Amino acid sequence: MKALTWHGRRDVRVESVPDPTIQEPTDAIVEITSTNICGSDLHLYEVLSAFLEPGDILGHEPMGVVREVGPVAAEHVRPGDRVVVPFNIACGRCWMCDRQLYAQCETTQNRQAGKGASLFGYTKLYGHVPGAQAEYLRVPQAHFGPIKVPVGPPDDRFVYLSDVLPTAWQGVVHADVPKGGSVTVFGLGPIGQMCARVARLRGAEQVYGVDLVPERLEMARRHGVEVINADVIDDVPGAIKDLTDGRGTDAVIDAVGMEAHGNPIQAFGHRVVAALPDAVGARLAERMGMDRLAGLTDSIATVRRGGTLSIVGVYTGAADPLPMLDLFDKGVQIRMGQCHVKRWIDEIMPHLLDDADPLGTEDFATHHLPLDEAPHGYEIFQNKQDGCVKVVLRPGTTSE
Ligand SMILES: NC(=O)c1ccc[n+]([C@@H]2O[C@H](COP(=O)([O-])OP(=O)(O)OC[C@H]3O[C@@H](n4cnc5c(N)ncnc54)[C@H](O)[C@@H]3O)[C@@H](O)[C@H]2O)c1
Ligand SMILES: [Zn+2]
Ligand SMILES: [Zn+2]
Repeated sequence: MKALTWHGRRDVRVESVPDPTIQEPTDAIVEITSTNICGSDLHLYEVLSAFLEPGDILGHEPMGVVREVGPVAAEHVRPGDRVVVPFNIACGRCWMCDRQLYAQCETTQNRQAGKGASLFGYTKLYGHVPGAQAEYLRVPQAHFGPIKVPVGPPDDRFVYLSDVLPTAWQGVVHADVPKGGSVTVFGLGPIGQMCARVARLRGAEQVYGVDLVPERLEMARRHGVEVINADVIDDVPGAIKDLTDGRGTDAVIDAVGMEAHGNPIQAFGHRVVAALPDAVGARLAERMGMDRLAGLTDSIATVRRGGTLSIVGVYTGAADPLPMLDLFDKGVQIRMGQCHVKRWIDEIMPHLLDDADPLGTEDFATHHLPLDEAPHGYEIFQNKQDGCVKVVLRPGTTSE
């Protein structure tokens, strides 16, 4: 089959690789019809080289059709079922799964690396599981993971259940916006866009959105968000305080993550770490504060006293400098972490089955590309070229 493989910093290729096969009774094989590129893939593309090996297949936001099942997986899915596959791999039966903490599943946890549940296409730290930007995917723990969706509506209606939608949903739940309250979303990439839409859907009265990219600001504006262009406004937290009686918003969601714009010294650090030999780079990346923190520090400055900060963006540094005095003095509650995808599906699904499409799933992907054009997709998504906000790859299609 064909798959998108990683070869080095900003070097991904579509290559022929062996087809996946059933290896465990709990496995299924899914033929992929849509598979997205995520902001998390950009971290692999740019800074996390130390945790990858050439030839690794990336991708963790797929949907498709079940083609083969092991005997235990057959208790949940059958060949022909249309399914979305969550990005984290969980067993549904362990102590953590019983508490719906699927991102911490104890069956797939990576104890040696000291990390949570395994993830598709996400480095040696998270199980080294082949990813989903491919024609076929082996799905472990398929007696639990795959989400069955009805035949009829287009893939775009459901494919974001794999990551973006539940991640945004959890981010908004964590933000704990009071009814009729206010929230600021930092970063209007795919995750921030959906955080803003979900916040409105769940009753936030005032939603502010911050980014630097004009078409991302414009997309958010279309969905009722009051946008702030961080490229034009120097003091974003100050501007938001001016709009909120000097207090800041009740809640803030950081949907920026470790590659924020705005800190040239840390940006230089990223390039250095990405260029180092694996062993040294991995140590530095894990032990040192190599994250770019502009999104996070602005988030901390923007949340009102006694408010809640929900961190959805991914950070990796163990020694990131944080303004502890501000956090403590303001009495900020912080919640964060990887999304427990399946926990939120029942709450989200009715909105996807609503003909009115209240979450705007059909005003989201800016690019649908054949798998062959995935390297181009990575490039335009990273560089924010050609109006790119979200790329959906379609393995079954070919270039025109
Ligand atoms: N917690 C989870 O389970 C989970 C799941 C999926 C993605 N993520 C993470 O969420 C983050 C966002 O993902 P995405 O797909 O939207 O990626 P993205 O890279 O497209 O989005 C980041 C956005 O932040 C903007 N930005 C950069 N610096 C900023 C600043 N200083 N102030 C305001 N905006 C700034 C960028 O212009 C961009 O639009 C990533 O770190 C990703 O890894 C987390
Ligand atoms: Zn993702
Ligand atoms: Zn489990």
